[in-house]
Amino acid sequence: MARLSSIEQIVHLYATQGALAYGEGVTQLEHAVQCAQLARQSGGSPSLVVAALLHDVGHLFEDESAVASFSSDDHHEITGADALSDLFAEAVTGPIALHVAAKRYLCWKEPQYYEGLSAASKATLALQGGPFETGQALAFERLNHFHDALALRRFDDTGKRLYSANIPFSDFIPLMNGLLNHL
Ligand SMILES: [Fe+2]
Repeated sequence: MARLSSIEQIVHLYATQGALAYGEGVTQLEHAVQCAQLARQSGGSPSLVVAALLHDVGHLFEDESAVASFSSDDHHEITGADALSDLFAEAVTGPIALHVAAKRYLCWKEPQYYEGLSAASKATLALQGGPFETGQALAFERLNHFHDALALRRFDDTGKRLYSANIPFSDFIPLMNGLLNHL
């Protein structure tokens, strides 16, 4: 199982694998930075900003064909949360682990939400189990980090702009350092 044990490893991973396609005209690196910027602009906590930055880190352990093929659910949200769990508290890894479930929840909660999803997000939704049923949705509302998971999902859905002036990934290093678990 992939595990990350330092900020340097995270920076290296995005430097070497960040050019992988996200699948919607932007790279993984661009998507990560855009989502973190959106979280910061919304006044999100440091944990939420770092969760937004790293929410798709699980995809960076895959090869590009797997990301783009939409042939099976890769459970990248769990891979990512697990890989980061030695470094960050649940305030960061919890919303990451739930960001796919948050899409399923929002499809149940807001009928118009599904219509606004990108083609890629619609394609993966089906593989991820489709919209929640009512019982699943009500259980999801009771989970820790429910609100941050929904906020992260909104950033995820909008952080795909083709011509955004992205700031460097390294701008977020101090924020990540400030949240490191000190074991
Ligand atoms: Fe994403």
